Amino acid sequence: MTKAPAFLYDCDTGIDDAMTLLYLASLVHAGEATLVGVGTVHGNVHPLTGALNTLRVLEAAGIKAGGQDEQGVPVAVGADRPMAQDVHYAVDWHGTDGLGNTYLPEPAGRPVAEPAAAQIVRLARALPGELTLLATGPLTNLGAALLLDAELPSLIREVVVMGGAFDHPGNITTHAEANIWHDPEAADLVFAADWPVVLVPLDATHPSAVHDDWLDRLAAHDTPVARFAARVLEFYIDAYTPTLRRRGAVIHDALAAMLAVDPDLGEYAHRPVRVELRGELTRGTTVWDARSLPAEDVRRPVKVATGSDVAAFQERLLASLQSFPA
Ligand code: RIB
Ligand code: CA
Repeated sequence: MTKAPAFLYDCDTGIDDAMTLLYLASLVHAGEATLVGVGTVHGNVHPLTGALNTLRVLEAAGIKAGGQDEQGVPVAVGADRPMAQDVHYAVDWHGTDGLGNTYLPEPAGRPVAEPAAAQIVRLARALPGELTLLATGPLTNLGAALLLDAELPSLIREVVVMGGAFDHPGNITTHAEANIWHDPEAADLVFAADWPVVLVPLDATHPSAVHDDWLDRLAAHDTPVARFAARVLEFYIDAYTPTLRRRGAVIHDALAAMLAVDPDLGEYAHRPVRVELRGELTRGTTVWDARSLPAEDVRRPVKVATGSDVAAFQERLLASLQSFPA
């Protein structure tokens, strides 16, 4: 029996990040994972909004969120802008409140004072070799943490990132995926560092889109968390349906989390990855080196998910959202 993963989650809570928090919470309740902390970052929304949304979701899921000196999961606010470009929020996909304009009540908990990048370094040093660093927003906090502590790569068990696009169109520009595009410099620092990175790009997430059957089964499950998830997803479904040409949505971030828990659900290519920083049309594009030449690349290959067992992903995600008490 492999040890239950200990997650440190960096996100821009947002709607699919919220579904991922619910998935992680279901694993925590089942004793199949631990959540040692959450950090938020610009991207879908301002990181303070993302932190309050994270607290709302964790409280809805029955996870105590608290400060560093209490029991409970610390939620730290992170970078409110990228390293080298203006900030941009994805309100068209997640709403101005980040949870589909549901404007939910204020959470009972508050974010901790510690910045998210400092929390990454502190917890990595406190739990050397134990943490899975799951990132489903722009990578500014991870980049900042790498600059804060040069030993960080040796202290993290694995980094799992939702982001990028290779043999798939971009979703924020013709070639770039949103999380990487929001901070290309930070993303390139992450892919250049000597730590094990699993990257889950649009190539893997888009084919996992959920549609009517899945959505109707969620809506038919009459528990508070399932109702919460269905309500928050409505805005996201309206945003995604024109792109998918039928009712549905892509819950990108949850697939990255699930591949962190059960890597056998995915298919992978192991390739060095760089981020275009200078192209006028291509800035923020992820570029892998698929040549079969002898590896002269000094970059550690990234484990890039090229596909997944979509049926298993969708069934397990639905079961997790249905697993909370009535
Ligand atoms: O491109 C999809 C990613 O951008 C997801 O993480 C979504 O939440 C947004 O952050
Ligand atoms: Ca996200």
